[in-house]
Amino acid sequence: MSKSPSSASGHHDTPVDTAPAQGGCPFGHQSADTAAGDAKASQNAPADATQWHDAQLDFSKSMSYGDYLSLDPILNAQHPRSTDHNEMLFIIQHQTSELWMKLALYELQAARSAVHNDELPPAFKMLARVSRILEQLVQAWSVLATMTPSEYSSMRPSLGSSSGFQSYQYRILEFMLGNKNAAMLKPHSHRPDLFQQVEAALNAPSFYDEVVRLLARRGFAIAPSRLERDWTQPTPHDATVEAAWLEVYRNPSQHWELYEMAEELVDLEDAFRQWRFRHVTTVERIIGFKQGTGGTNGAPYLRKMLDVVLFPELWHVRTLL
Ligand code: HEM
Repeated sequence: MSKSPSSASGHHDTPVDTAPAQGGCPFGHQSADTAAGDAKASQNAPADATQWHDAQLDFSKSMSYGDYLSLDPILNAQHPRSTDHNEMLFIIQHQTSELWMKLALYELQAARSAVHNDELPPAFKMLARVSRILEQLVQAWSVLATMTPSEYSSMRPSLGSSSGFQSYQYRILEFMLGNKNAAMLKPHSHRPDLFQQVEAALNAPSFYDEVVRLLARRGFAIAPSRLERDWTQPTPHDATVEAAWLEVYRNPSQHWELYEMAEELVDLEDAFRQWRFRHVTTVERIIGFKQGTGGTNGAPYLRKMLDVVLFPELWHVRTLL
């Protein structure tokens, strides 16, 4: 559509036009002249409800933001079971955490394949992203911490026996990071589709197991029992793996990629530990030492989880340097 002289000067008489204003900046900003003309026009004429800064305003025939992002199902998936004001915060905090976990898993799975194929630079990029996701989840605890014990107590009955303990994505994340525990499959047995996914993560080598295989491919003498083992068991401490990391840290310039991998992994575990820590402190702040909705003894259970070490040799080797 061609631009009429009147709309080009900023006077929005009819006919209405959606083409870029002449003299306007290519990023959608108008020139000073045009803006001044607009200001004058807005004093004299009613605002034109069919045009705004050349933006597309009609989505009857094309995909909109909400369409692309499937916002209808997402924004209609909050169903508080009480009239308690604070239940919405509780639901959205968990739902957003699950969305970020989805991305973390997506990145970790791709990073594991990249390591398997010896493509380390893309793996570093993805690992860095997972660490930033975890850092963001650490910060997110501050929002939940605005909930007081009295506020939680009044919505607690709505939760029934549901608990983050039953998060299948969280369990897959733990398994992918090597914290294997077959007992954690059980909460998913009522959902065969989810059970299958969690079980597959239990049975598969963890991300770190792939990295240990990488060490072997790069010429380090890794014990055969570490390269093929029962993957359903948690990550063992292995002397040959620790010796490999020691060599890497003593001669970073000779093993730069492995050195970078080691630091990416420490970054990731550091962020994960902080997430666990903020969880337990937020929980203590809100429910004290009450039992969890999932049936554990609550804060003491979560404190015990602070002792989990995902990449044991990478922490031990520091003492030797
Ligand atoms: C007021 C807020 C919260 C309270 C009081 C709380 C409390 C608890 C408690 C007591 C447990 C131990 C299991 C149980 O007996 O239930 C637990 C586990 C868990 N919670 Fe939370 N939680 C809160 C918020 C969250 C949020 C926002 C998330 C994010 C997804 C989350 C994720 C988890 C996960 C993944 C576990 C399992 C941890 C593990 O097994 O190591 N929690 N929570």
